[in-house]
Amino acid sequence: MAKSRVQFICQSCGSVHQRWAGKCDACGEWNTLVEEGTSGGIGSGPANTRNARKGRAVVLTTLSGDIEDAPRIISGIGELDRATGGGFVRGSALLVGGDPGIGKSTLLTQAAAALASKGHRIVYVSGEEAVAQIRLRAQRLGVASSPVELAAETNVEDILATIADGKRPDLVILDSIQTLWTDLADSAPGTVTQVRAAAQAMIRYAKSTGAAIVLVGHVTKEGQIAGPRVVEHMVDAVLYFEGEGGHHYRILRTVKNRFGPTDEIGVFEMSDKGLREVANPSELFLGERHAKSPGAAVFAGMEGTRPVLVEIQALVAPSSLGTPRRAVVGWDGARLSMILAVLEAHCGVRFGSHDVYLNVAGGYRISEPAADLAVAAALVSSLTGLALPADCVYFGEISLSGAVRPVAHAQQRLKEAEKLGFGSAVLPSGSGELAGGIGAGSFQPTELADLVARIAGSRRSRVDVED
Ligand code: TYD
Ligand code: MG
Repeated sequence: MAKSRVQFICQSCGSVHQRWAGKCDACGEWNTLVEEGTSGGIGSGPANTRNARKGRAVVLTTLSGDIEDAPRIISGIGELDRATGGGFVRGSALLVGGDPGIGKSTLLTQAAAALASKGHRIVYVSGEEAVAQIRLRAQRLGVASSPVELAAETNVEDILATIADGKRPDLVILDSIQTLWTDLADSAPGTVTQVRAAAQAMIRYAKSTGAAIVLVGHVTKEGQIAGPRVVEHMVDAVLYFEGEGGHHYRILRTVKNRFGPTDEIGVFEMSDKGLREVANPSELFLGERHAKSPGAAVFAGMEGTRPVLVEIQALVAPSSLGTPRRAVVGWDGARLSMILAVLEAHCGVRFGSHDVYLNVAGGYRISEPAADLAVAAALVSSLTGLALPADCVYFGEISLSGAVRPVAHAQQRLKEAEKLGFGSAVLPSGSGELAGGIGAGSFQPTELADLVARIAGSRRSRVDVED
């Protein structure tokens, strides 16, 4: 009998250590090493050669050949299908991550019901809630009559035996991956070993049968799906369901997708009857806007193929601290420091004795550098106390030299702004031919300093920008 060795596995990154330590060398996290058994062999080093069997020859095939007729199953929930890249792919595994209580189970219950009523066989396995609780949610969502097959179960072998019965399911939803456990690994449910082994078994099932599977994963406070950074590598697509406390809307963001684009988002609003699709997110993000307040600029952004208008708010206030504060919500803090430095170095605008707060309205998160120009406009507007024109949108990237650089999709951004009643735009020069309407009222600075001068010039003769 081989002696079973004890190992310590980091619950954050999955690295294996022979000895316990307070800190994981691999990822630098503290207190994440947990003792886990090694039977099951997952991540447990060299395979046991005594039990090794002779390999079985598999049939090699060609790139061309038959593909199943409908490789995707489309839920009909437009925002969800958009985020998955056009529907769930048969034979693939999708991970849906998000904070507890954000609405993952709600979304997937709605998707399951929509698909089941179209005649697909959908199995929903919950390891977190009892059948009665899931029924209660379904009633609230008004989908209790749809033929979703439901189970409350956590053992992977039992789940696989259950779904092997009868017609192959089109989609299996496992809510959540942290509750699953397999007989093959002997650690507690929720540990990296169990999560990885359970996910592996389910993914193998998906690939061999052609059923699509969805794994739900909770995110830890650091923003990682608990343990399973490893699972992210194993699945075909990863979606994050996010939302800001106090706001009703939720964003389904594609982080990884082997079968589609990764920059798409789906936007939903949480109502008392579940999640409602928001087909035009700009209206939502601009909804709470107060015209004519200093420090607010509307950014014409892009999310994948879709333009999204969102308000950027800056507050620049005199600081009593030696090192003034810089706080950012919804944008990159390093990028803010860069814009502040460019404003100081090339435009003579000083923030050294001011606290700077930047917020993207409605809890929305921007990752595009095209927001630079809108951020700079909001900062200068707040510092000078001069409100920007209420009907103007801003986009453009700012380089370290202070030049304003063109960004992609200028026409689409302008078209969306025009549709929502904006009459002018500030955008990089060289953005191509601008059609009438909003194009006629546009300002195209080549240097950031031109924009600063224009904002400062909008005040007749009060204080100087450089006070
Ligand atoms: P849930 O889907 O259970 O979250 P998760 O699976 O991500 O943990 O959603 C829970 C929250 O959503 C809960 O706070 C109640 C709210 N909710 C609504 O506001 N309306 C609804 O119709 C439903 C079903 C839930
Ligand atoms: Mg849930």
